[in-house]
Amino acid sequence: MPEADLAGAAAAEPASALPAPLNGVVRDADGVPLPQRFGPYVLYDLIGRGGMAEIFLGRTFTALGQPRTVAVKRMLAHLSSDERFGRMLVAEAKLCATLRHANIVQVVGLGRTDGRLHIDMEYVEGLDLHDLLRRCTRRKIPFPTEFAFLILEEASRALAHAHRARDENGRPLGIVHRDLSPTNVLVSFEGEVKLCDFGIARAAADGVRADEVARDAGMLRGKFAYMSPEQARAEEVDARADIFAFGILVWELLAGRRLYKGGNDMDTLRLAQQAEIPPLPRRGRPWEDTAQTLLDRALAFEPARRFQTSEELHDGIRDIILGHDIIVSPVRFAEFLREHFGGETLAVRRERERGVDLIAPPRLGAGRGGDGPPGGIDRRKSQDRAE
Ligand SMILES: Nc1ncnc2c1ncn2[C@@H]1O[C@H](COP(=O)(O)OP(=O)(O)O)[C@@H](O)[C@H]1O
Ligand SMILES: [Mg+2]
Repeated sequence: MPEADLAGAAAAEPASALPAPLNGVVRDADGVPLPQRFGPYVLYDLIGRGGMAEIFLGRTFTALGQPRTVAVKRMLAHLSSDERFGRMLVAEAKLCATLRHANIVQVVGLGRTDGRLHIDMEYVEGLDLHDLLRRCTRRKIPFPTEFAFLILEEASRALAHAHRARDENGRPLGIVHRDLSPTNVLVSFEGEVKLCDFGIARAAADGVRADEVARDAGMLRGKFAYMSPEQARAEEVDARADIFAFGILVWELLAGRRLYKGGNDMDTLRLAQQAEIPPLPRRGRPWEDTAQTLLDRALAFEPARRFQTSEELHDGIRDIILGHDIIVSPVRFAEFLREHFGGETLAVRRERERGVDLIAPPRLGAGRGGDGPPGGIDRRKSQDRAE
């Protein structure tokens, strides 16, 4: 099954690997157990961990006492205290917080709490694409092509929205994602597709030169497999680098395997710098010719020979879908996801959610970014849970 090969290779990517809970207790990178108070939130589950940040599920309460679940991306301590990194991150995150699109994870706030920078976002209940493909492999579930096209259509629409975004004076914002990869494509149990992790990759990329990766703390680890050649060579990038990265997503989802398979980060980096792209494997599928034409444009080595805008890329994907009567149905996708992965994922989540009750709710009107929470942690109970 070619799909299995794709996800099998994807499993090697460490980007969102989470530590296993010890005795059922989940701890943050500093070793503090969940649930824990953090500004206006009770953080109760760890849903992602990368080189820059941890992503938690947080519960907060509206002014009328209504509980609200938010995904809180909290920068690791050493990065929060790095002034240059912090400034860059805040500048980028502010830009991206202005994006409003159904296929982009909505940023609801930016803050600094107890000295830690955090980005608060809508929570997308589902899986990231990397995780989804890995689970398909493990359970030998073929990943239908119609869902691949659905994901590509929606994600390219989101990318086009971000690339053409302008400020209130009509000037282009110049947003470049810089880190398009399967871990940054979220799919929800409602069949939605949303891009996340927008724009902040610049802070990481500027902070670390690609050729210094061996000495780096790991911010760029596992991120080379979707880099354009110019980005892998640490040259200046623009929106066309995103078009190339997106082309790799297209190639992999349609080929059913990974494009660059380096034995380690440096090998993968070299492959990305050379950018030798094999043709899409032929399996007699009716859309293969048009898909190859699209890939030739998206994955051209020279940015000047690529699609010049992500609208053109999106139009190309849409034309394949329409031209070959491919059914892209979020309803079917939602059913597929819930049938195969809903139960296991949601059971764990609901269990963790119960942990929120161990902590006194934040008082109404508690401000964001203050020095320590009003109300405070019910330490006796949270200790009980930690032991
Ligand atoms: N808003 C969200 N809703 C659900 N899951 C999320 C959300 N944001 C991030 N995640 C999960 O956390 C992982 C890491 O988040 P991301 O913002 O990509 O951080 P990083 O910069 O470490 O890659 C994602 O790959 C995804 O699995
Ligand atoms: Mg990410």
